[in-house]
Amino acid sequence: MCGIIGYIGNKEAMPILLQGLRRLEYRGYDSAGIAVLNDQETKYKIQIQRIRAVGKIDALADKLKGKDKEMKGTIGIAHTRWATHGGVTEENAHPHFACDGKLIIAHNGIIENYRQLKEHLGANHEFKSETDTEVLAHLIESHYTGDLRHAVEKALMHTRGTYGLVVMHADHPDKIVAARLGSPLVVGIGDGEYYIASDATPLLAYTKKVAFLNDGEIAEISRTGFETYNLRDESVAKCVEEIDWNDEQAQKQGYPHFMLKEIFDQPTVLEDAIRGRTNLEDGTAHLGGLSMSEEKMRGIHRIILIACGTAYYAAMVGKYAFERLAGITTEVDVASEFRYRDPVIDEHTLVFAISQSGETIDTLAAVREAKRRGAFVRGIVNVIGSTIARETGAGTYIHAGPELAVASTKAYINMSVIMILYALQFGRLRHTTLATGQRLIHALMEIPEKMNKILEQSEAIKKLAEKYSGYKNFLFLGRGINYPVVLEGSHKLKEVSYIHSEAYPAGEMKHGVNALLSPEFPVLAIMTKNQLYEKMRSNIEEVRARKSKVILLASEGDTEAQSLADDVIYVPQTMELLEPLLNTIPLQLFAYHMAVLLGRDVDRPRNLAKSVTVE
Ligand code: AGP
Repeated sequence: MCGIIGYIGNKEAMPILLQGLRRLEYRGYDSAGIAVLNDQETKYKIQIQRIRAVGKIDALADKLKGKDKEMKGTIGIAHTRWATHGGVTEENAHPHFACDGKLIIAHNGIIENYRQLKEHLGANHEFKSETDTEVLAHLIESHYTGDLRHAVEKALMHTRGTYGLVVMHADHPDKIVAARLGSPLVVGIGDGEYYIASDATPLLAYTKKVAFLNDGEIAEISRTGFETYNLRDESVAKCVEEIDWNDEQAQKQGYPHFMLKEIFDQPTVLEDAIRGRTNLEDGTAHLGGLSMSEEKMRGIHRIILIACGTAYYAAMVGKYAFERLAGITTEVDVASEFRYRDPVIDEHTLVFAISQSGETIDTLAAVREAKRRGAFVRGIVNVIGSTIARETGAGTYIHAGPELAVASTKAYINMSVIMILYALQFGRLRHTTLATGQRLIHALMEIPEKMNKILEQSEAIKKLAEKYSGYKNFLFLGRGINYPVVLEGSHKLKEVSYIHSEAYPAGEMKHGVNALLSPEFPVLAIMTKNQLYEKMRSNIEEVRARKSKVILLASEGDTEAQSLADDVIYVPQTMELLEPLLNTIPLQLFAYHMAVLLGRDVDRPRNLAKSVTVE
């Protein structure tokens, strides 16, 4: 969703801010704007110059062409907006000025009581947009008596809602004030220059040293350093952390889209996820992030996995793994449901919150609820320093690297493998034998190479997408461990190609879904060689009898598959529990190629945002 980037230093701010906005594009947005404090030119009456545009960053870049002099300055803020309050218009795009053109802000989040605040500010303030953010700008202005940070502090006392906020004032060309409540902000520390952004991605090109603001903190950032305070005006010490992502990982590296690049990243990032976390001799895994004694681990009677979207489907893979390897009753819950029901939790319950971004508001709220009810809560998160990672204190990073396509691919694989490793770790303290543990680790080591074999079929899968691109509906079928895989495959197809699809456990067909079957409704089914092979085979026969076209995902060497299907994609065999790590990839490629063929905005599908920070 919305993104913020701010810069203060000794270089021209505008190109840095523009590049920062491009790096934030992945979050999803519909308009953007830049403001630079011009402390060098006198020709321009208003010292802060602002340019905004509706649509892509390219539209903003076009408007900035030839404006180098006007937009000169070594301090500035910029924003990508994903509309919540007020339509997608230039007037509603950030940054927003207050009345006198001296104070300007960019804001992520929602000020819930903005209507009351607007009324309270009254006729003395002239509002030019429909946004809650502009009201906040005027509110800060109304408290301003020469000290910018104090004005922000005082204004925030009157707000209800969430914010990640950056403020600049023409009388203070030496500082940016930033504040956070519920919407992340990270300070980037350079050499005589500082950055502030809603996540670390736009900072990777400049620095790896960062400090994360916590909720209720306000920072004053200058060219010589930054100070952090709480809302009681007390100074707060910050530790500087080093992020191990690099800017190259955050680029397309020759691929036409981030989504394709990230699909092809999977063999490498899977290795990153498992490196140093298995022990072949003991046939187990060691995920330090659990921070739990073996005795406590043995005392866990129930596991709840909470997540949204693709992370939820990865959690379903986790359920199979925990139940099979560790014999622990495991529930999977959509975070937005969990937070509003009355989950039964006791001191023997372990809750894992699974999230790529670590910022998904529903998952975060579920974490807080589970903690309030006394569960052990751990995160399985990709983005380093993200709120869920920090609020769960301990937990495990999935090491997928920056994932910038809105459609999650490599994070799904790495979330799944981390849960399999956790299940093994718990399982080895219970009934999983040394031999099974060792077999699983061996099989896991072979996965990256097998993934490469599937990726080599990308062109063939593209041809398949061409063949089926005229259909308006698809049905995905799987059973057992492949049920979450087809749910994820269907989810991918919907979000990037906008084609309607449904996913069902194949055993459910007779209970209603069979009515959909017709030559116009192709079925993509997974029938790999596992314990449910024969069951799945019967289900496919039933589908064929109803004249639906069938695309089968079958195991290499399965000579019968061809006779059951119109088209077959072969995948290497592995242990059943590891099948999602392979079988998901052809479905990701199918969705990707379909989206490209249909001319969709693959990396930024309509109406979607990468991290969903509002309810
Ligand atoms: C995935 O392709 C989607 N964009 C979406 O379902 C996503 O998985 C969901 O919003 C959860 O995000 P998170 O992993 O960052 O919490």
